[in-house]
Amino acid sequence: MKILLTGGAGFIGSHTCVELINAGHTPVIVDNFINSSAESVRRIEKIVGRSVPLYEADVSDREAMNRIFDENAFDCVIHFAGLKAVGESVSQPLRYYRNNLDTTLTLCETMQAHGVKKIVFSSSATVYGNQPEVPYREDMQSLGCTNPYGWTKYMIEKILEGQTVADPEWSVVLLRYFNPIGAHESGLIGEDPSGIPNNLMPYVAKVAVGELKQLSVFGNDYPTPDGTGVRDYIHVVDLARGHVKACDYAAGHTGSEIINLGTGHGYSVLDLVNTFMKVNNVNVPYVIAPRRPGDIAENYADPSKAKALLGWEAEKNLEDMCRDTYRFQSQNPKGYHT
Ligand code: UFG
Repeated sequence: MKILLTGGAGFIGSHTCVELINAGHTPVIVDNFINSSAESVRRIEKIVGRSVPLYEADVSDREAMNRIFDENAFDCVIHFAGLKAVGESVSQPLRYYRNNLDTTLTLCETMQAHGVKKIVFSSSATVYGNQPEVPYREDMQSLGCTNPYGWTKYMIEKILEGQTVADPEWSVVLLRYFNPIGAHESGLIGEDPSGIPNNLMPYVAKVAVGELKQLSVFGNDYPTPDGTGVRDYIHVVDLARGHVKACDYAAGHTGSEIINLGTGHGYSVLDLVNTFMKVNNVNVPYVIAPRRPGDIAENYADPSKAKALLGWEAEKNLEDMCRDTYRFQSQNPKGYHT
């Protein structure tokens, strides 16, 4: 299939691009590089040994999108593009709503005008809110989001679901990611956050290479086995393969489906830090700090729907995630800006 990847130069998009090519598909990337780098596309090309069509454009630019759809007969779209920093979304809510919703609306209108009706969307476990029980299942009702970033994911899910009602030829797969970490095993592509990372794994990686002094562990008094927060960390290559399966699914179905992409296993902050130190033989100094506002104690996925519908399940473990992250970080101490 010929598949448009919006935001395809980013962390999850770049890994998905590689896996789509491995599976025999033809991805085309559109990215405005505001939070990614053209270097990641060059690295993708190095991994797969062929060139990848790339458009530098903003997905909310209607003219540019029309031209891209005029020039390519897409079978499907994977929509990664969007602003994604939780804290930033709290201080810049209008920018987040404007950007994430405008891009999605322009994309869907362009798809409709060109008769492209299959889309896989990067949603997030954040849409569940703080559920009273784990694991999180797709049939649980959302309990609301704690920040504008999360609400944009929620709203986009509703926009896309609405489209399948209005036009029954549409096929929508809403992938709710848990906590993607890791990197391609070549060490060529990985996560390259701008500025000081907010998320745990990129922070740990930068402490491990000496770029940051120490990790703050946000709270050790949660009702979890060691008191630190528990999450479902998933290797980005597993996640990427989930997208390949989601495209196959979308090709053969109509309507909309919410599908979790997680491993089904919860690990604590200290599990992750200790595993990282052990498999990489490095020190990651840390201090216990107060809880971070908005954090929940524990979440992890029930991944059984992904297995039943997509025939997909995660294969890589926490050790693989820690090893592959460290390889990318050590080989690219300044990310893509070397
Ligand atoms: N943590 C620390 N220190 C840090 C950073 C994080 O102790 O410096 C802890 C957090 O308190 C939490 C765990 O590590 O217990 C994971 O935190 P992340 O920031 O890596 O991830 P979150 O689970 O908070 O958020 C992630 C994504 C969001 C998404 C959400 C969905 O970053 O985009 O999962 O559940 F919305």
